[in-house]
Amino acid sequence: ARRIVVLISGSGSNLQALLDAMEHDELGGNVVAVISNKPDAYGLERAKEADVLTEVVEPSKFRHFHDERDRELYDAELIRVIDHHQPDLVVLAGFMRILTKSFVLRYHGRLMNIHPSLLPAYKGLDTHARLLADSGTEHGASVHFVTEELDGGPIIVQAAVHVLPDDTKDTLAERVLSREHLIYPMAVRWFLDGRLQLNDSGLTLDGHALPASGLR
Ligand code: GAR
Repeated sequence: ARRIVVLISGSGSNLQALLDAMEHDELGGNVVAVISNKPDAYGLERAKEADVLTEVVEPSKFRHFHDERDRELYDAELIRVIDHHQPDLVVLAGFMRILTKSFVLRYHGRLMNIHPSLLPAYKGLDTHARLLADSGTEHGASVHFVTEELDGGPIIVQAAVHVLPDDTKDTLAERVLSREHLIYPMAVRWFLDGRLQLNDSGLTLDGHALPASGLR
């Protein structure tokens, strides 16, 4: 069976969606380990509940040199822990750290992220508040392969939601999250079933080129 390692930092509701899909044999593989940079991430409880192995790799143990060097050391340790599980796919599910170039290159073509906006709009943090501040009317989430460019890798699939007049950043975040839970397991399954290919000319699903915005 195909092997998935999931990286989290928080609640892990996307992890839960992946675990639920796995439970129903709809994920195309098994989540073999969940790794968090935060010891108190609630997602670790979700993993344990599903009998999935958990590990914590704490950044505080890598505060010795300047930031760049510490990041390299942290990511090297992360790579060591991940590779121990021999994953076919590494899934970032609310993992709130910027990864080094060496990390991203190591997992090129088998590292996915979900981001709470319709990329390329609103890369980075606080996407819901920023969209509301701009009086945006359409919002959503994107699953993409991770490349060196932050939130800039090839997009696999997006889900769009309408912004409602009374929306706050919390109601909007919640509505977007419910869509994230639909598209992330789907994208993971496409990949593990061998339907997604990342090559020089872009991304294909079942041999057909995907648009720059991914499937929507
Ligand atoms: C999700 O909305 C995810 O898209 C976002 O964090 C949340 C994690 O929720 N990720 C990022 O902002 C990545 N920069 P979860 O822990 O409940 O899955």
